[in-house]
Amino acid sequence: MSKQILVTGGTGYIGSHTVVELQNSGFDVVIVDDLSNSQIEVLDNIEKITGIRPAFEKFDLSDSVLTDQFFNKYTNIEAIIHFAAFKAVGESVQKPLEYYRNNINSLLNLLTGMKKYGVKHMVFSSSCTVYGQPDKLPVTEATPRKEAESPYGNTKAICEDIMRDFCKTNEDLNCIALRYFNPIGAHESGLIGEFPVGVPNNLVPFITQTAAGLREELSIFGDDYDTPDGTAIRDYINVVDLAKAHVVAINRLIEDKKKSNYEFFNVGTGEGYSVMQLVKAFIEVTGVDLKYKIVGRRGGDIEKIWADTTYGNTELGWKSEKTLEETLASAWKWEKNVRGLN
Ligand code: UD1
Repeated sequence: MSKQILVTGGTGYIGSHTVVELQNSGFDVVIVDDLSNSQIEVLDNIEKITGIRPAFEKFDLSDSVLTDQFFNKYTNIEAIIHFAAFKAVGESVQKPLEYYRNNINSLLNLLTGMKKYGVKHMVFSSSCTVYGQPDKLPVTEATPRKEAESPYGNTKAICEDIMRDFCKTNEDLNCIALRYFNPIGAHESGLIGEFPVGVPNNLVPFITQTAAGLREELSIFGDDYDTPDGTAIRDYINVVDLAKAHVVAINRLIEDKKKSNYEFFNVGTGEGYSVMQLVKAFIEVTGVDLKYKIVGRRGGDIEKIWADTTYGNTELGWKSEKTLEETLASAWKWEKNVRGLN
């Protein structure tokens, strides 16, 4: 029986794209997801793309008993990619305990399972949010972390620390944290993509939903930042490129190419785009007449951030490939598919 990769949160946005790339690279995948923020139909679409239906178990990983039962049943897990987590910044401010309980307990339960059942490797879904507003741009892996602006951000920083400490005393166990910049876009098939519940918080889903007629108008949060056009700057990484970074990280662990048993890497493009640049690029690529207006800044937003990708490019051997235009076109194709538009 071949070894399996456990993908937690595998029916979610980044998780589903990563399952596709893992299966395309020949890995056998089992997904654990409680479907609290994703749909079971994602499995059908993964199967349409890859021809393979991944194994699936529905439960909440913050439940230690259920997590232990899972490892007891699936005895062939070689590595874990841990995506399952709550991820809405604003909601985390309103519900801090839920965020700490869910995001931290699920990691603790998985690490406990690794130790008890001899699973050697984990790749963890971290975020550039751990850098806060950096003093110097672009940010390298040597850039110091800053105190988190939100409970969500703090869970990412705490989870990184837990993995670092865990790896220190468990020398045969290995973790890589990938610090994502802003993941956007969708699979080129248009069969999987980001599917936010309710009104989207993130920029690109809000844009595509506005273009599809679900929202009246996009609000651009602030045009008085210290940037060339006054709108905030981010590093937007294509979700398929990001998914491939996970496959590279898994291979690095399995093939024992790591430098130490706890590592972290930035995963971005190395290019910063302003909100206005992104909106204009979307209009240009799709030809859609997107309605937008400038409003005040959104609380908790930072002004600008983009990655220095040198270390990831050289040490991890991964590079983003897709252009912003291709990525925005893929997001629009997905939205049109979901809404049944031509
Ligand atoms: C935030 C988090 C990131 C997290 C992500 C997941 C920080 C610093 N970043 O990213 O770690 O993974 O959420 O949800 O905490 N914007 C508009 N109008 C909109 C929506 C967004 O102008 O309707 C602007 C924002 O002000 C921001 C940019 O678009 O400047 C990107 O926003 P968004 O997509 O929400 O991502 P971040 O806030 O960068």
